[in-house]
Amino acid sequence: MLIGIPKEIKADEYRVAVTPAGAEMLIRSGHQVIIERGAGLGSGFTDDYYEKVGARPIDSAADIWSAAEMIMKVKEPTLPEWPRMKSGQVIFTYFHFAASHELTRAVIDSGAVAIAYETVELPTGQLPLLTPMSEIAGRMAVQEGAKYLERPQGGLGVLLGGVPGVLPGKVLILGGGVVGTNAAKVAAGLGARVAIMDIDLERLRYLDDVMPANVHTLFSTRYAIRKQVEDADVIIGAVLIPGAKAPSLITEGDLALMRPGTVIVDVAVDQGGCVETIRPTTHHDPVYTVSGVIHYGVANMPGGVPRTSTLALTNATLPYAMALAGKGWKRACAADPALKKGVNIAGGHVTYAGVAEAFGLPCKSVDDVLLGPALA
Ligand SMILES: NC(=O)c1ccc[n+]([C@@H]2O[C@H](COP(=O)([O-])OP(=O)(O)OC[C@H]3O[C@@H](n4cnc5c(N)ncnc54)[C@H](O)[C@@H]3O)[C@@H](O)[C@H]2O)c1
Repeated sequence: MLIGIPKEIKADEYRVAVTPAGAEMLIRSGHQVIIERGAGLGSGFTDDYYEKVGARPIDSAADIWSAAEMIMKVKEPTLPEWPRMKSGQVIFTYFHFAASHELTRAVIDSGAVAIAYETVELPTGQLPLLTPMSEIAGRMAVQEGAKYLERPQGGLGVLLGGVPGVLPGKVLILGGGVVGTNAAKVAAGLGARVAIMDIDLERLRYLDDVMPANVHTLFSTRYAIRKQVEDADVIIGAVLIPGAKAPSLITEGDLALMRPGTVIVDVAVDQGGCVETIRPTTHHDPVYTVSGVIHYGVANMPGGVPRTSTLALTNATLPYAMALAGKGWKRACAADPALKKGVNIAGGHVTYAGVAEAFGLPCKSVDDVLLGPALA
């Protein structure tokens, strides 16, 4: 199969969909890889790295889109890329269709096969192509919280790890899933006092078993949250209710309970946030202050560490890319229920219920599309 990797063109996006190691594996399996010149630079991979393993750097993105049977990307296709998508072409990337009617319509009209990283789902309910980004965001949340806690940044002026004779800082984590657990690990490693709150008692039992002694678990109620925010130095929002907006666990009124200079890092901002006063910010302008409390709301935190996040993402996507390239998308999806759940749009039909519901469109079963003769 001919696999094309265009350079990401969305602002602040430095990741690349395939590393030289991934290109080598695809090429060794008999596939051809073409990559837009400079596509890997943001993640530390020059064109030479790709050429050495047999991939072909190409100057023009348009040529890649027109030649490739499968396009691999990181972010959803943006406006200039829409006319380049073509019927029967597999596009394997994050799509987040429910956030854009225009993108959904463009992909339907193109006849391309959109396999979305974010909906590839294991039988356990885990989302293997989202997990690595949550791991990164969780770990980074503590790093960012510690930075803005410094006095010159407007923070309380507390060193999270403390020193002998001085108490460490307190990190409060709302939500003990992937983001929360990774945040807790890093905060605990720094020596902070850590509290994780969740409504899932089984999850709290598990965390209590595996976390070090400076991590405590607490059942999440509005009452308990109000008490905890009073002396927290860093608060990390990490809740998720699948398919829904994050619940508002900290209200604007609660800010008055906190000390000025407290830092909130609301990682859940991409789902609306779990802090009433949070709004999305960017890596260039990451924080703002409300009632003396610093708010960090970067919606694509992994974009800040592309060398790490490209490797973490491609470790997870490559096995699926190998299957798609090796078997063709229909046979690969028929053989793997997790990958089949990734098919959002194929041959002009929406095949993922959540996307159809978001825009009141008809939804065709993926199985019908897989059996149908229309697509190769
Ligand atoms: N900003 C970014 O760059 C970025 C990156 C990755 C993930 N995220 C977001 O981070 C959020 C968390 O992701 P995740 O992978 O950890 O999800 P997850 O499903 O693994 O964990 C969510 C946890 O929240 C808990 N929860 C639900 N309601 C709660 C409540 N009222 N109080 C306390 N806990 C509650 C759940 O029980 C679960 O344990 C999501 O919104 C995700 O989209 C953001």
